Amino acid sequence: MTHIIIFGAGGQLGRELSLLFPEAYKVYHKDKSGTTHDIDNAEFIRDIMALHKPDIVINAAALANVDLCEKNNALAYQTNGKSVGTIAKYSRMYNSLLVHVSTDYVFDGKTGNYDENAIPNPINYYGTSKLIGDIYALGYENSIIVRTSGVFGHTNNFPKFVLKNLSEGKEINAIKGFYSPIHARFLAMAISHLIKKDFRGIVNIAGDRISRFDLAKRIAQIFGLNSDLIHESEPPSNMIAKRPFDSSLNIRMASALLGIDFHSTQKNIELMTKE
Ligand SMILES: NC(=O)c1ccc[n+]([C@@H]2O[C@H](COP(=O)([O-])OP(=O)(O)OC[C@H]3O[C@@H](n4cnc5c(N)ncnc54)[C@H](OP(=O)(O)O)[C@@H]3O)[C@@H](O)[C@H]2O)c1
Repeated sequence: MTHIIIFGAGGQLGRELSLLFPEAYKVYHKDKSGTTHDIDNAEFIRDIMALHKPDIVINAAALANVDLCEKNNALAYQTNGKSVGTIAKYSRMYNSLLVHVSTDYVFDGKTGNYDENAIPNPINYYGTSKLIGDIYALGYENSIIVRTSGVFGHTNNFPKFVLKNLSEGKEINAIKGFYSPIHARFLAMAISHLIKKDFRGIVNIAGDRISRFDLAKRIAQIFGLNSDLIHESEPPSNMIAKRPFDSSLNIRMASALLGIDFHSTQKNIELMTKE
């Protein structure tokens, strides 16, 4: 049997990965008993890796709150950067395949359509800290770095905000800009396919490029809601961290490699449920 560890099992992606790999050992930041399991604790990583000697480690844990990273650089550096180094170190010790999840926010957003060879140039500390994590993961040759964008799953996210507010007849603002949003379930599915391939290095797995405004309109259309309630707006002047304007990812490589549709906007939105 293949032994898998999933870090960040309680997050949007982690939850979907946990459903796809029920046999995996799942590490929750806080488990049901209230106990904290922190990837920033190197001894915790050492012990859990020694206990399981996994064939595969999937790191879906991150400090993904962009504004919090801007306010607390030290924590972002630790969780998104240094802790990835610790996970890579012990992955090497047990010869585990390391699948590490990265972000479109390593780019400055000036051009969009970033492929795997594009040069990162983060404009906020979240992007900087994630780029440090990518470098640690890349330093281990038995690793896959999955760059993704606009993940939406069971917690709060922009598509859910759109669906909830339009369902309640409320007006919403979609901040100008483009990205490549993907449902956490399709991202997890694509990662599971990727693991079966003999691929190492950086790969983009994300949805089709779309503006937030058009995404909101597609959600309205698919769920039969009033798209007149959607307005396109400039970024609020009090935003803590800067966001890249067009962080869309070029997904040609993953599309060819995996041969499945993980990316179409329509199919990704259809995975949302009206909760
Ligand atoms: N969300 C997006 O739009 C997006 C876009 C591009 C890339 N990504 C990347 O995709 C991956 C998955 O994102 P996601 O949306 O699933 O994020 P998420 O829902 O915030 O999940 C991250 C998980 O990591 C946990 N975590 C945070 N700090 C931790 C620590 N020190 N030790 C242990 N666990 C810790 C969080 O627990 P708590 O909630 O208890 O802190 C949470 O369960 C991340 O690498 C993220 O950077 C996300």
